[in-house]
Amino acid sequence: MQIQPPVINIFEKAVRKAGKYLLRDFGEIENLQIQSKGLGDFVTNADLKTEQILIDTLKYYYPEATYITEESENIIGNEEMIVIDPIDGTTNFIHGIPLVGIVIAKIINEEITDGVIYNPILDDFFWASKGKGSWCNNNRLRVSKRQDIIDCIIGTGIPHMDRIYPQYLKEIDAITKNCSGLRRMGAASIDLAYVAAGKLDAYWERNLNIWDVSAGVLLVKEAGGRVSQPNGESWDIHSKDILVSNSNIHEIIQEKLEII
Ligand code: IPD
Ligand code: CA
Ligand code: CA
Repeated sequence: MQIQPPVINIFEKAVRKAGKYLLRDFGEIENLQIQSKGLGDFVTNADLKTEQILIDTLKYYYPEATYITEESENIIGNEEMIVIDPIDGTTNFIHGIPLVGIVIAKIINEEITDGVIYNPILDDFFWASKGKGSWCNNNRLRVSKRQDIIDCIIGTGIPHMDRIYPQYLKEIDAITKNCSGLRRMGAASIDLAYVAAGKLDAYWERNLNIWDVSAGVLLVKEAGGRVSQPNGESWDIHSKDILVSNSNIHEIIQEKLEII
């Protein structure tokens, strides 16, 4: 078993503390206060409370860091950047669907070095650190070995409300008729963690933010997977669109997405 680096211990402490409150809120969804940030984009009092717990806990250990958070103003500090998504999968949460992730990642010089994703409902704690592998509940993660896309399950994110991309309908057409099925988890972090765990064989989505994908990108890489933009160009922390896979089926998916 890999010994967790100190930074992961700190991130774990923060997400488990926040997760206790989130779990309680999940059991009382009818009491949630839900506000709309835009069409089909919600924030609950649980998102805000979770984010505050994470920031308060992390600031004790990293008082000088820069904090990029989904729900509050960024805190500008030194070159050590901590990225937070307090609930990835808020819409799932509101509907009582147990696929959510509390996400923290550390980025230095544009490189993601450490990340955690915690699903408090399923009690799944995922972590990855550069050069130390990807882990879930003390089990080492490896991407799947499937070679033939016809045997594969592919995750995706479906644009909704004002985010309609006619191109997307062509993309699902190109992918779904060639694979064993598509999955829409509703939480980008969980899609990425599940590719790292070999449950999904690949995943693509467009128009994401760094807090959605930061920890998950490292999980996929450290589990032996490949990360790029859907058109095959290299992915960096400023990219909005992503394609990840078990490596074996990367090019075939890329080709199918590219012909559109
Ligand atoms: C969302 C989820 C979802 C993805 C959306 C994200 P949120 O994050 O990751 O799967 O399709 O694009 O915004 O709003 O639940 O933190
Ligand atoms: Ca998110
Ligand atoms: Ca969120």
